[in-house]
Amino acid sequence: MTYLEQSKQQLAQLQKKETVRILAIESSCDETAAAVIENGRKILSNCVFSQIDLHALYGGVVPEIASRAHVEAVDRMVDEALREAGETLESIDAIAVTYGPGLVGALLTGVTSAKALAYAAKKPLIPVHHIEGHICANFLTDPELEPPFTCLVVSGGHSHILEVSDYGEYRLLGCTQDDAAGEAFDKAARVLNLPYPGGPRLDKLAEEGDIHALKLPNPHTDGKYDFSFSGLKTAFINAVHNARQKGENLNDADLAASFRHAVVSMLADKTMQAVKDTHVEKLALAGGVSANSLLRREMQKRCDKTGVKLYMPKLSLCGDNAAMIGSAAYFRLMKGETAALNLNARPSLPLVK
Ligand code: KG4
Ligand code: ZN
Repeated sequence: MTYLEQSKQQLAQLQKKETVRILAIESSCDETAAAVIENGRKILSNCVFSQIDLHALYGGVVPEIASRAHVEAVDRMVDEALREAGETLESIDAIAVTYGPGLVGALLTGVTSAKALAYAAKKPLIPVHHIEGHICANFLTDPELEPPFTCLVVSGGHSHILEVSDYGEYRLLGCTQDDAAGEAFDKAARVLNLPYPGGPRLDKLAEEGDIHALKLPNPHTDGKYDFSFSGLKTAFINAVHNARQKGENLNDADLAASFRHAVVSMLADKTMQAVKDTHVEKLALAGGVSANSLLRREMQKRCDKTGVKLYMPKLSLCGDNAAMIGSAAYFRLMKGETAALNLNARPSLPLVK
């Protein structure tokens, strides 16, 4: 029997099995992660090796360094995840991996490892979209959350408002016309000389600042639910540079607070408009920027006011991790989706076709 024939047979059995445990691998950017997840909802282990220290010296992720670090760490993370979960390669039911979007060399490390493990252990292989993983972090945080719901996805590479109509079913309502929210935070942080990764550091600094210190424009967008951050970012950079040239002393905390407030206001305005128009009274946040403290407070405030139930991943699940990939994989498996061993990395894989 070929690997694929066997995988199809196993799939039919797994769809009827009461407890399904999936080993998941994530390596799309600068975190090497492995986890074991039960039935898409319960974390048995969640191991993350962050490469931040390796990239901090260069002020951003260096793709070649990331690929090499993934190769060095991936086996260790898989061993740790299995051990912590009390599982073995033989006892788990399937192997999941992020196959896009992301850095091609980084993705290839995870994809190749997952394929080798799936072949050696004779287990089904489940390909997962990284952003779908971020959305599923909410299923790990709130066991009662079920589609349909609206979702604001904000990460280093994505800013989307989606309607999640069912598990793995998405309708795109709006997206950024230029930079992603995380990218905008990182670029503004760099102007303030904050070390990589700038987003969380700018967030922290902003807590002590005055949002009215710097007036920023309210960018125009074509779509009702679209975002645009590049105008905000340019206005911010110009204001800081002009002030520095004139020798004016601007307070960094005030600058951070003004910028964070402008970004969060745009995210919150557009998202609440989408929630109102679609009449879906459940909203979830997803992606690295969902850890932003003002975004969490602001969305909670607006949702409380309008009677919308808000779901947010717990802070440890906002950034890249493999637990979210294991959750997404379970729902894909239940739909009968597995991959053959010719699975390849897809750096620009779209979420909505
Ligand atoms: O989802 P993620 O971990 O990786 C991608 O899939 O891109 O998102 C990383 C992004 C980075 O731009 C990082 O600066 C940003 O999320 N980020 C934050 C915060 N924590 C992470 N941005 C603003 N405030 C935060 N607290
Ligand atoms: Zn991510």
